[in-house]
Amino acid sequence: MSRFKAVIFDLDGVITDTAHYHYLAWKQLAESQGVHFDHAFNENLKGIDRMGSLDLILASSSRSYTPEEKLALADAKNLHYQQLIATMSSKDLLPGAVEALDAVRRAGLRIGLASVSKNAFTVLERLGITDKFDYVVDAATIARGKPDPEIFLKAARELGVAPADCLGVEDAVAGVAAIKSAGMFALGIGHPFVLTEADVVITSLKEFNLAAY
Ligand code: BG6
Ligand code: MG
Repeated sequence: MSRFKAVIFDLDGVITDTAHYHYLAWKQLAESQGVHFDHAFNENLKGIDRMGSLDLILASSSRSYTPEEKLALADAKNLHYQQLIATMSSKDLLPGAVEALDAVRRAGLRIGLASVSKNAFTVLERLGITDKFDYVVDAATIARGKPDPEIFLKAARELGVAPADCLGVEDAVAGVAAIKSAGMFALGIGHPFVLTEADVVITSLKEFNLAAY
């Protein structure tokens, strides 16, 4: 039994380790612009949409960029990212991810996906788990990225569940903030000292236990 009616999952870094591919693609892009890029900086980009991430990186550059230049850089990063994810398959599912999705299904709850990635549909297909979701938010329809609650609120609305009856699952600080401003229970995946706003933090979905939240 669960006190929730729906679980809304983030994708990158929760269900699959695309966070690492985003890191590699942003690092190459940043360094091509003379901007130092490491894992600590990458932490700030988790959950942030493509143009938002680019703006954060270019803020450390010594020059300014026209909107056209920014679009070209974002496209280059995305092309690189798409090359990195091209060979993904179900072997790239993080431990415990399928088991967590199946446990939510067995408990009779609705299942949503709230990723700001415009590549989310492709990644779900590659992982072979598209049909495990009742609703996947199309990131192209979202005006404000995380930490704005818009994407989680849209998922809840489309699932027909009140935000207060939703459990959100996130690995990013911005994502946890989005879940909390949506008025949902936040399950963080990562470290409690990073995801300080989360209601509960676990190390990975291997520890997912719906009845405990
Ligand atoms: C988020 C990732 O899920 O999607 C970010 O955490 C990424 O790192 C963002 O920048 C946007 O992804 P995409 O695929 O639309 O560039
Ligand atoms: Mg994430």
